[in-house]
Amino acid sequence: MTAVSRPEHLALQAHDDENCNHSGNPCLNDLIEARLSRRSMFKASLGSAGTAVLASFGLAACGGGDDDAVAAPLPSAPTDVKLGFSPVAKTLADKVTIAAGYTATPIYALGDPLTAATPAYKNDGTDTDFDNRAGDHHDGMEYFGLNAAGTGRDANGSERGLLVMNHEALSDQFLHAAGVTPNPRPAGEADKEIPAHGISIVEVRNTGGKFAYQQASSFNRRITPLTPMVLSGAVRGNALVKTKYSAAGTDCRGTINNCGTGYTPWGTYLSGEENWAGYFTRSATDNAARDAKSVASLNRYGRAQGAASRHGWETAGTADKYARWNISQTAGAADGSADYRNELYTFGYMVEVDPYDKNVALRKRTTLGRFNHESGVFGKVEAGKPLAVYMGDDAQGEYIYKFVSSSNWSSADASPANRNTTGDKYLDSGKLYVAKLNADGSGQWIELALSNPAIAAYAAYKFADNGDIAMNSRLAADAVGATRMDRPEWCAVNPGNGEIYYTLTNNSSRKVEPASATQMAVDPSNPRAYTDSFGGAAAGSPGNINGHILRMREAGDQPGASAFTWDVYLFGAQSDADLAKVNLSSLTGDQDFSSPDGLWFSPKTGLLFIQTDDGAYTDVSNCMMLIGKPGKVGDGTTPTLTYTKADGSQLTVQTRLGAKPTADTLKRFLVGPMDCEITGCTETPDGKTVFINIQHPGERITKATISDPSKFTSHWPGNAGYGAGGATARPRSATIVITKNDGGLIGS
Ligand code: FEO
Ligand code: CA
Ligand code: CA
Repeated sequence: MTAVSRPEHLALQAHDDENCNHSGNPCLNDLIEARLSRRSMFKASLGSAGTAVLASFGLAACGGGDDDAVAAPLPSAPTDVKLGFSPVAKTLADKVTIAAGYTATPIYALGDPLTAATPAYKNDGTDTDFDNRAGDHHDGMEYFGLNAAGTGRDANGSERGLLVMNHEALSDQFLHAAGVTPNPRPAGEADKEIPAHGISIVEVRNTGGKFAYQQASSFNRRITPLTPMVLSGAVRGNALVKTKYSAAGTDCRGTINNCGTGYTPWGTYLSGEENWAGYFTRSATDNAARDAKSVASLNRYGRAQGAASRHGWETAGTADKYARWNISQTAGAADGSADYRNELYTFGYMVEVDPYDKNVALRKRTTLGRFNHESGVFGKVEAGKPLAVYMGDDAQGEYIYKFVSSSNWSSADASPANRNTTGDKYLDSGKLYVAKLNADGSGQWIELALSNPAIAAYAAYKFADNGDIAMNSRLAADAVGATRMDRPEWCAVNPGNGEIYYTLTNNSSRKVEPASATQMAVDPSNPRAYTDSFGGAAAGSPGNINGHILRMREAGDQPGASAFTWDVYLFGAQSDADLAKVNLSSLTGDQDFSSPDGLWFSPKTGLLFIQTDDGAYTDVSNCMMLIGKPGKVGDGTTPTLTYTKADGSQLTVQTRLGAKPTADTLKRFLVGPMDCEITGCTETPDGKTVFINIQHPGERITKATISDPSKFTSHWPGNAGYGAGGATARPRSATIVITKNDGGLIGS
């Protein structure tokens, strides 16, 4: 393993941890610390095996009455699928380690060609044309079935389909033969890095029992940070989105840092723009040219004046495609239509993609708010009721959101003649809510609208209209006193009972006694602040090191409810941690995990797939995926955590803990290669094939070590026989396909 300094490692891992929480809200400057692997510098390995746990929660059929069964174009869930596999031990092996009886095979990696004419990926840093190749950092992903002839949608098609996936960020050193050239960036390097972001649509087909991607499929395409898009919903035409690209504020260009996903009930894809702000630079004197509102908004979203851009693309040339990464005021027009001062407002949304039709305009669904979006997951779909979309804002101390459509669901829309106008119907008009969680296990959804007096009278930011609120959702949520959470990542909805699960990945700024405005105090729903340990020694400063998984149930199980109940399904922890303060869920060595991130329920089996993006337990194990059979909100206890403050007094926090997992209800299913994150999860409708993504294996690389393969921390998937390079290959993000050797359901 290569020695990489802590600063280098922090910088490398920063791609997923941008943060900016000003305006009195906690914002973590040290957030990077959370993800950074203290542990990877102190290696100690140990595997363990144990047993996992639990039992059976009965899954009701999807849908309900006669005409609501349309919700998901998928079969009803079985009532009792047992976790039939033996748990996988934690490991640092540079390979995909999966439960016995299962097979995991790479099928689509960074650089793979998407047209018949595109050459094979050499993987030596000389490849170009990423508009026609798989992008980097595969992330959230959904499967869309095709009919047997491959001519169109069959929601239940399990033999051929389209994988639609996000390409969140870059392991940029590997994209160039000699690594990254510092600013000013060569245009040739920027022209590779920009289109290596975005979204892939790629056909996959099962031939003779093996899935493979189809290089020449006419469905294949890339969506990049330069692909034209339409601003739809609350923000369309707003004064704040007028740019040199669209003086009317109706159009925008591209999507970036796409993370979580959603599968709409009408068969389209939602892609969340997550850490988009960091790609833009702003001059050190730009505040002087702006009004106070503009400055407040930019600060709240992480672009204080003087902010540098992540990749320096604005230095690559004077062409628009480079200039737009500089959001400083540079040209005179007062409305911003002559420069890119407003470009930042065209990012931070959920983007809707119709995978089946290249000719449909891509739409940013702005009514769903603007923040560091993760997934956009629909609650249970029932005819005659509105649709709820659950979302999270991944930054320290940020919030949990819900969108509720104005239109009630019509079963006929499950297979609409026009998916585009169906999206308009359900996603452009509705209400945006933010969550407030109370100590007694109750909670409220608070509407973000000018009609709310707390927003209309907010002193820190005077909202002009509901478009302004949509664009500045964080400020509106600040105004209503929403609950600051430990980095809301993905969410998932239990197809059996409609309960909503959120991963709260970690938070190094959660403290017993906050010392600054960027830190926040332990509370009932974010109750832990502790130090991690390795080698027997405490290390680092206290915080929520390992993260937890929150669970919510809507009042009356109604999508439009304004109240809910909550508890914590699981607290991440290493199995030997303090059972009273840290390992509250009593995880065994077969179940222990840290930093939950990706989260997905199988519609077929109702099993919950939990994926990690960790830097705190990585001296012991690479990132992993577990499978669980959860119970329900309120099935556990209400333990009290006791902390001793600096003055010797005690602070107690009572939380709400779900039933502890057993050896039958939670097991580690898979461990990924070195320095990866496990993310993205989807399946064929028959439940026999699951696809997941391995993101940024071997990401700890620097310009100084790029020329020496012996310094790479990973060679996957080349070392698994996929693509060029073999045992000394540059590592690549990739999709893997998982099947059970006996042809059964995944997880059974
Ligand atoms: Fe892209 Fe917050 O994970
Ligand atoms: Ca992630
Ligand atoms: Ca993450």
